[in-house]
Amino acid sequence: MTASLPGPVETTDSIRLALRSWTEVEAYLEHCKGVIIPLGSTEQHGPTGAIGTDALTAEAIALEVGRRSGVLVTPVQAFGMAEHHLGFAGTMSLQPATLLAVLHDLVLSLARHGFERVFVINGHGGNIATTKAAFAQAHGTATSRDLPVAPMLRCRLANWFMSGPVMRQARDLYGDREGHHATPSEIAVTLQIEPSLISKRRDLPDPAPAGPIHGPEDFRRRHPDGRMGSHPSLATAEHGAALLETAAAALSEDLHSFLSAA
Ligand code: NI
Repeated sequence: MTASLPGPVETTDSIRLALRSWTEVEAYLEHCKGVIIPLGSTEQHGPTGAIGTDALTAEAIALEVGRRSGVLVTPVQAFGMAEHHLGFAGTMSLQPATLLAVLHDLVLSLARHGFERVFVINGHGGNIATTKAAFAQAHGTATSRDLPVAPMLRCRLANWFMSGPVMRQARDLYGDREGHHATPSEIAVTLQIEPSLISKRRDLPDPAPAGPIHGPEDFRRRHPDGRMGSHPSLATAEHGAALLETAAAALSEDLHSFLSAA
């Protein structure tokens, strides 16, 4: 059976899994088998960026995609694989094997109830390899446990910051000053969703360019203020609103094709 889109809702209240009762979720499953998991990270984002940047952005974009589609959104998984950022205060990381186990168990929980399409909206590049590994493992477990949903189970990873329209917009706004970590585009989205962060903005010296890194000590040696080639002082809340809109539109389209594909 193929899942379909329930359709747009006015506010996010009705699509937040955390605000639904189990009876409402059971009723939802009668007409939609899709669910969105926002996935972030809790890690340094340069001297001015919020530690929660990747979780804040993933959750806000997921809620907007949920509002446009009517698809349920789970609470954000705010801890990701951020081992290489552990040289900076405030970073909280899951080792790859831990994150794999967490995502595997979350997907299996949803599959057990009959969710067939799991759409992960991710805000952190360091989560990508592990998330794909977790999907592979979840498929194997669903099959070995003989879950009725196993043959229909599909998982998709949607990295909002890597979607074509978002990357084009970031390039138009910031050129090569977008960089690779603590980027002005992700910081802009946080300024839009959390205005208290606007007061942190200040001009910063040129950052070290991006390059290969080998663990947290090496990261801090090469990138002493935590940025990789980025100029987050270029970010504005207005840019953030535009980027959020672009990301939500692109990912809504992606979700639609994911839910309607066989
Ligand atoms: Ni980030």
